[in-house]
Amino acid sequence: MQLLEDRARRIDRDLLEAIQQVSQRLGYRVYLVGGAPRDLVLSGRLGDFDLVVEGEGEEFARALAEVLGGTARMHSRFGTAELKGLGERLDIATARTECYGSPAALPEVEPSPLTEDLLRRDFSVNTLAIELGEGPPYEVLDTCHALEDMKNGRLRVLHDDSFTDDPTRILRGIRFESRLGLRLDDAAERMARAAVADGAFDALSGDRLRREVFRLLEPVGSIESRLSRLGELGLLSILNPGLRLSGEDLIWIGRAATELEGLPPDTAEVEGWRLVFPVLYGSLDKRAGEETADRLSIRPEDRDWLLGSRRDLDHAIEVLRRPSSKPHEIDRVLRPLRREQIALLLALGDPPVVQWTRRWLQELRSLSLTLTGQELVDAGCAPGPSIGRALVATREARLDGSITAEGELQFALSELKSESRKAGRE
Ligand code: CTP
Repeated sequence: MQLLEDRARRIDRDLLEAIQQVSQRLGYRVYLVGGAPRDLVLSGRLGDFDLVVEGEGEEFARALAEVLGGTARMHSRFGTAELKGLGERLDIATARTECYGSPAALPEVEPSPLTEDLLRRDFSVNTLAIELGEGPPYEVLDTCHALEDMKNGRLRVLHDDSFTDDPTRILRGIRFESRLGLRLDDAAERMARAAVADGAFDALSGDRLRREVFRLLEPVGSIESRLSRLGELGLLSILNPGLRLSGEDLIWIGRAATELEGLPPDTAEVEGWRLVFPVLYGSLDKRAGEETADRLSIRPEDRDWLLGSRRDLDHAIEVLRRPSSKPHEIDRVLRPLRREQIALLLALGDPPVVQWTRRWLQELRSLSLTLTGQELVDAGCAPGPSIGRALVATREARLDGSITAEGELQFALSELKSESRKAGRE
């Protein structure tokens, strides 16, 4: 236990002192619970802070915010609060029990001692607690034999209805398997399969399902092993009964995840689901694709991308394979794609597709004109959208190598002239 005590001391000293001061003043016991003690034991990493208070969590949060100079945001229905403005996120909850009125719905909560609060949780490994309010020795409370489960690599659920009450825990389980190197034990796996077969996911909202699935597909660690577990436990059919994922698809996604790491940074954040869904959508027709987007309550701004993600990829593959394709045609099909789709192209292992994609990344994509629209206006052209079109045509001529940088102005002027001639004829 000495190791853990040392690590607990690494918690920001000011924060620790503030917690102790407030808990002693209010006479409440305060514990660090869930992910933080789990990760401290398994990897020494200290993640988000979840505190449980035996007492009034909201009152504690308000008092702590005062001492630390942050703000407390209350979620009274659940007896929880979030402290902000401290550099790190701090969640504070009243020790509570939960009662699920109906499966997959949000629970009703009631105050309780810590030991009962721990028993309502998803897996034993998330039940470790470290009392912070008292000061050293920061003993680890292990009321559910979590340390033994960790030693044996086991993800064990704490009660038989756990997955029926909250089926997102099955998805969390797969995420923990991959991230923590543990494995659902036989009973948990049996319960997971039974919950899926009994339709535990039917009542789960699209938002919650999407959040958990997307979180599961974040591009860290082995995305293939998580996907293959999804398939094994029958969870792909939760998204759509027609979804299929072959061994080849898994290899493709795995390679693409590696390619993605080597791609130059972009303004858009990398999102693992955008790597996976274009592949998954290869097994769905248009209607099933729409139903899947509906089931996941895909955000309106992502819906068109998702529905077209496979079609756009396939179209790009076709153009990249065509022996007659010119650089400007390659640029046209690759430019609208997201980085995740570019990674899928690189991972396809098809020589023309890979060669064109690499050439586009290294050379074509960044080609920009020396000519500007202002120069065309200065040369007597009327400002308007035709200038933009002439610039695009000029860039495409540069990509194809049919003009050099010196020839840009002349080419753009002749484009504008022929466009106005055509317009005059119509
Ligand atoms: N929890 C649960 N069932 C859920 C979600 C959460 O029982 N569906 C419990 C777990 O005990 C978990 C705690 O609530 O440890 C806090 O949840 P959260 O912060 O989401 O998870 P962490 O375990 O901290 O995981 P991560 O490190 O991935 O955030």
